[in-house]
Amino acid sequence: MGFKAVRGDVIHAVSKDELRIHPDSYIVSDGGSIIGIFREIPESFGGIEMIDHEGCLVMPGFTDLHTHGPQYANLGLGLDMELLSWLEARTFPEEMRFADMDYADRIYRLFVRDMVREGTLNAVVFGTVFTESTIHLMEILESSGIRAYAGKVNMDRNTVKGMTEDTDRSLAATEELIRRFEGSDRVRPILTPRFIPTCSDHLLEGLGRLAKRYGTPVQSHLNETLSEIEWVKELYPDSGSYAGIYGSFGLFGQTPTIMAHCIHNSEGELRMMKSENFFAAHCPDSNSNLASGIMPLRKFLDLGIKVGIGSDISGGDTLSIRQCMVSAIKCSKLKHAEADRKLLPVTLTEVFYLATKGGGEFFGKTGSFEEGFELDCIVVDDRELHPAGLPGVEERLEKYIYCGTWKNIIARYVRGNPVDPEKAMETRA
Ligand code: GUN
Ligand code: FE
Repeated sequence: MGFKAVRGDVIHAVSKDELRIHPDSYIVSDGGSIIGIFREIPESFGGIEMIDHEGCLVMPGFTDLHTHGPQYANLGLGLDMELLSWLEARTFPEEMRFADMDYADRIYRLFVRDMVREGTLNAVVFGTVFTESTIHLMEILESSGIRAYAGKVNMDRNTVKGMTEDTDRSLAATEELIRRFEGSDRVRPILTPRFIPTCSDHLLEGLGRLAKRYGTPVQSHLNETLSEIEWVKELYPDSGSYAGIYGSFGLFGQTPTIMAHCIHNSEGELRMMKSENFFAAHCPDSNSNLASGIMPLRKFLDLGIKVGIGSDISGGDTLSIRQCMVSAIKCSKLKHAEADRKLLPVTLTEVFYLATKGGGEFFGKTGSFEEGFELDCIVVDDRELHPAGLPGVEERLEKYIYCGTWKNIIARYVRGNPVDPEKAMETRA
């Protein structure tokens, strides 16, 4: 049977425009899947397991649609640079260290623990080119109890010596990793060409074949900075667009695809995103830090393009999707005020939707409490945020998003099972 109920002040977004609020209610699930939200437990559910968080906010866990585990130790460093010099000076030297399994073990555990502490229950993660430590990252993610896609990065040109892969070996290692995780449930592989400048045609072609053969999803970076776009134009002078290059190698459209940033997309590329149904990962903290620009989020929402929020550490300086939500709102306001008055700022409901159900859609039925969705939630004790007494549930969400910390999160559940951030720190048996 496996009926479970979580009690609390329930709040979730079912669309970008609709928040649903159920004060002091019970989310009832069967085998981890939600049946409904009730004010009283119906008698027919006799013997149900009760998880009582009366007086606390219960909301869906967050989805981080784009992040880099191996950049965690660099958090906050080198952010007076722009993308290409930052990659060379800070990022590639740090990622080189993940050839060392002891170092990888130490940093990946901290990364996963701290991400789970922040309430992220679904994450799409870049590893490095090093296969063994990427597999280890996947094992740590698995043991943490959250859901994730993680990818071994592919790079065979324009990077540092120790990370320039032999193309065929890069493809063989990627295929091996896919097969190893075939049939895995919560933590799955994702193809991860870093971005066009670091991948040869032969590599991109091979990855397109793997996507097709194994049905593996794809993640990469797209239109992040103007100098990167110039570089891509020099490499592919005859291509119609940056997005089109990925497309020409079968790297979107065939399998679910996430492109991070998408700041400087042309109108044609926006239409392509919509028609090929791929996701944009909006990473406002990273985009501010690296002076990349502000993605016109309102345009994406108006066009009905799928969007989620990404921390993109360590371009971003926080693992907290809650903080990234605030940055997304602030950036949309600056875009509206400074660049285009027609692009209206996004609302708290809109970004809450993107951080939960919007990005969660990449994983399936997670990120809201509708019937048939998985019971994935975080529980927030927000009493300390309200010295003058608790206001209504919507205002409590607003206050928590702007002023809370991970310490306000007192419990996390995936499919109704408790998730403990400290699990990521447990050593292998
Ligand atoms: N483009 C290619 N690699 C990276 C990376 O590691 N971070 C960001 N923000 N952009 C990239
Ligand atoms: Fe990134």
